[in-house]
Amino acid sequence: MAHNILVTGGAGFIGSHVVRRFVQDKKYHIVNLDKLTYAGNLENLTDVENEVNYEFVKGDISDSVLVQKLFELHDFEGVIHLAAESHVDRSISNPLEFVQTNVIGTVCLLEAAKNWTKGEGKKFYHISTDEVYGSLGSEGFFTEKTSYDPQSPYSASKASSDHFVRAYGNTYQLPFVISNCSNNYGPNHFPEKLIPLLINNIKNNRPLPIYGKGENVRDWLYVEDHAVAIKLIYEKGRIGETYNIGGFNEWKNIDLVELLCDMMDEKLGNQKGTSRKLITFVKDRAGHDLRYAIDATKLSKELGWKPSLTFEEGLEKTVDWFLGNEKWLTDVTTGVYMNYYEEHYNNR
Ligand code: NAD
Ligand code: TYD
Repeated sequence: MAHNILVTGGAGFIGSHVVRRFVQDKKYHIVNLDKLTYAGNLENLTDVENEVNYEFVKGDISDSVLVQKLFELHDFEGVIHLAAESHVDRSISNPLEFVQTNVIGTVCLLEAAKNWTKGEGKKFYHISTDEVYGSLGSEGFFTEKTSYDPQSPYSASKASSDHFVRAYGNTYQLPFVISNCSNNYGPNHFPEKLIPLLINNIKNNRPLPIYGKGENVRDWLYVEDHAVAIKLIYEKGRIGETYNIGGFNEWKNIDLVELLCDMMDEKLGNQKGTSRKLITFVKDRAGHDLRYAIDATKLSKELGWKPSLTFEEGLEKTVDWFLGNEKWLTDVTTGVYMNYYEEHYNNR
C-alpha cells in the first residue's frame, strides 16, 4: 500500500522541491494542496504532474470542509505543511493575510489532524523558519533552545503557528515534528526575495535596491539541501522534536550582492564591475532584523545531514538556472504563470 502524504504549499519555491523529491520515491503518494496565490506556480512542477503517485488539489488550507474531506478520502500517513505567506515586506503592508493563512490555516490543518492521529506511525511535520527566534547581535547562533522573539508580522505569524503545533502535541497528543530553517535560495525562487530579485534586475540592467547600508546578515542554504533535510526529518525525525536547519553560511547583504554582481558579469560577458554600478542603497525595511545564524549541530549529529554545496557552487547553479529558464522568469514577471491551472487542469 502506498504511503499517502498531504503536502501543503507544494507549488511554491521550497514546496516544489520537496514534492519532486518525494514523488521520485515511489513508495510515497503525494497529494499537493495549494491555493495558487501569487507565490504558487504549477510551472515549477511540470516534470512531475503526470506521475501516478502525484495529485494536485487547488484549495485553501483554511477551508476546513475541504481539508476534512481530503483527510477522509486519503487516509494520510503524514502531513508536510509548507503553505504560508512567506515574504516579510508583504507582511509589513498586509499582516492580516499572514494571520489568515499562517495561523488560522495551520490550525484548520491541526483540527483535521487531531482526529486522524490516533493511529500508529502518523506524523504532522510543520516547516518553519529561524525568523521566529528574532534578531541576533554580532555574536552567537540560534539553537533549538533559543527563546522565541519574533520581530516582524511574518515571523510573529510563523511563531504562532509553531506554538499551535506544539500545543496540539501537548493537549491532543498530536505526533508532530518542526524544523526551523535559515534563508533558502535556488531554482524557482520567486523574484521578490533578495537573490532572484537581484538576478532579474541585473539581467534587465535595473537598479539593485539594498535596504539600509547592506549590513544585515543572513544565513543562506541551497533549496535542494533543505529538501533533503525535510525528507530525512520526515522519515527519521523524532516525534515532538524540533530541528534547526542551516549551513553555517552567513553573508552580509552587501558582500553577497557584490559576489553575485561579479558572477553575473562573468556569465553575461560584461566587463568586471558593470553590475556593481547598479547597486542603490534605499530606505531600510521597518524593523529590519540585523542578523540570523543557525546552529544545525543537532540535525547533523542525530540524522547525519550536512549541506552538499558551498555557497559559491549553489549560487552558480542558481544563476545558471535563472539564465537557462528564460520562459519561467518571463512567465513569472508578466503573470502568465497564473493561467497554468486553467489551461492544464480545468478539464481533468
Ligand atoms: P512561497 O511563498 O514560495 O510558497 C508558498 C506556497 O504556499 C505557494 O505555493 C502558495 O500558493 C501556497 N499558499 C499560500 N497560502 C495558501 C493557503 N491559504 N492555502 C494553500 N496554499 C497556500 O514560500 P516558500 O519560500 O516556498 O516557503 C515555504 C515554507 O517554508 C513556508 O512555510 C515558509 O515559512 C518556510 N520557510 C521559508 C524559507 C525561505 O527562505 N523561503 C526559510 C525557512 C522556512
Ligand atoms: P529576503 O530575501 O526578503 O528574506 P528575509 O527578509 O526573509 O531574510 O531578504 C533578505 C535580506 O535582503 C534582508 O536583510 C532584506 C534584504 N533585502 C534588500 O536589501 N533588498 C531587497 O530588495 C530585498 C527584497 C531584501
